[in-house]
Amino acid sequence: MKGRRPRPLDDGDSGEIRVSGHLSWAKPIKNERDFNLFQSATITSMSISSNCTASVIKTAAESLINGNLVAFPTETVYGLGADANNKDAVSRVYTVKGRPVGHPLIVHISSTEYLDKWAREIPEYAIKLAKAFWPGPMTLILPRTNLAKDFVTGGQDNVGIRIPSHTVALELLREFESQGGLGVAAPSANRFGAVSPTSANAVKNELESYLSDSDLILDGGFCSVGVESAIIDCTRDVPVILRPGAITKSMVEIFLDTSIYSMKSININTQIKSPGLLESHYSPNASIFLSGIPGSGDGYIAISDKPTPLGVIRLASPINNDEFARILYRALRRADELGLEKVFVEPAIGDGIADAINDRLKKASYDPSL
Ligand code: TXA
Ligand code: MG
Repeated sequence: MKGRRPRPLDDGDSGEIRVSGHLSWAKPIKNERDFNLFQSATITSMSISSNCTASVIKTAAESLINGNLVAFPTETVYGLGADANNKDAVSRVYTVKGRPVGHPLIVHISSTEYLDKWAREIPEYAIKLAKAFWPGPMTLILPRTNLAKDFVTGGQDNVGIRIPSHTVALELLREFESQGGLGVAAPSANRFGAVSPTSANAVKNELESYLSDSDLILDGGFCSVGVESAIIDCTRDVPVILRPGAITKSMVEIFLDTSIYSMKSININTQIKSPGLLESHYSPNASIFLSGIPGSGDGYIAISDKPTPLGVIRLASPINNDEFARILYRALRRADELGLEKVFVEPAIGDGIADAINDRLKKASYDPSL
């Protein structure tokens, strides 16, 4: 239906998508299979269960093959995709994002069949992790093959690979591969340093003025995880977590039956170059405070049992850490839409995804002048 603005599929705050526990991203969320296609200013909506759905995916895959950009949903955040073998298309990703060159991109594939094409000397523990947690919110950094060119890896000898679990992402990747593509390079679909988008509307608001008419945005509803994938360096004898995510250090340790490192505990000089993991990142325009008391007109994000101080604007009241992760970026975007100057956030307590939430909050609140 042309010209109709698609209805958000689910606001994420209803009981319907409150899922908790391990592998919650793997559970289908309500209406996840209804999705829409945005094309520049024209919006077409269609259901994935109809024939049109397959044709939307086909059009999007052809668009990638033809060197255009396609923003697509994953279970973590929306990605801005380009054919990972097309230098010009990948270079446009950097321009649209305003991202400095040399920051490596994650290559997305639909199945482990494509892993050998991009990565070599894959350690046994990485194969175990891939089998356990893919498709899902985990990126593995592995030694690259010749297919992974400098324009994707930022000149490093390794490449980041991920198989996402979102139905739309997987169908897009499968269709792209069936048309001869080998991988889709996709960073989060936001401007450099800003908050990652967790809905198609957020992508549109963020990037519309930088995308061209031939680029597309696929709408797959709100992301079910809400924070970016865990990045695990698999170029050493033991895995090292470079960016925490929904696949946690303890999940990896229990699964591999061994202790592993996180980036915090290893010497900075021995780290592989991962320039996106900067001290300041994921920042809205509003200043973020992780301590102190909000005043009248300030924004506030805290777990649901914390009361809202008088005159303070409550932006989110998650009932648990899974929901905290899922709605955090939406709440930070809301703060900017409302033009708030200050947002106070009570960090997540506990383990699991709390580590990823607090990592992003720390970066969002980083003040270089302090
Ligand atoms: O959940 C996600 O990972 C999302 C979705 C779209 O898949 N993608 C994402 O991409 O967050 P991006 O580019 O916004 O963040 C990826 C991070 C960056 O910090 C980048 O430096 C790091 O991964 N990275 C990518 N390839 C790497 C490599 N070969 N070596 C080291 N770090 C790498
Ligand atoms: Mg990003």
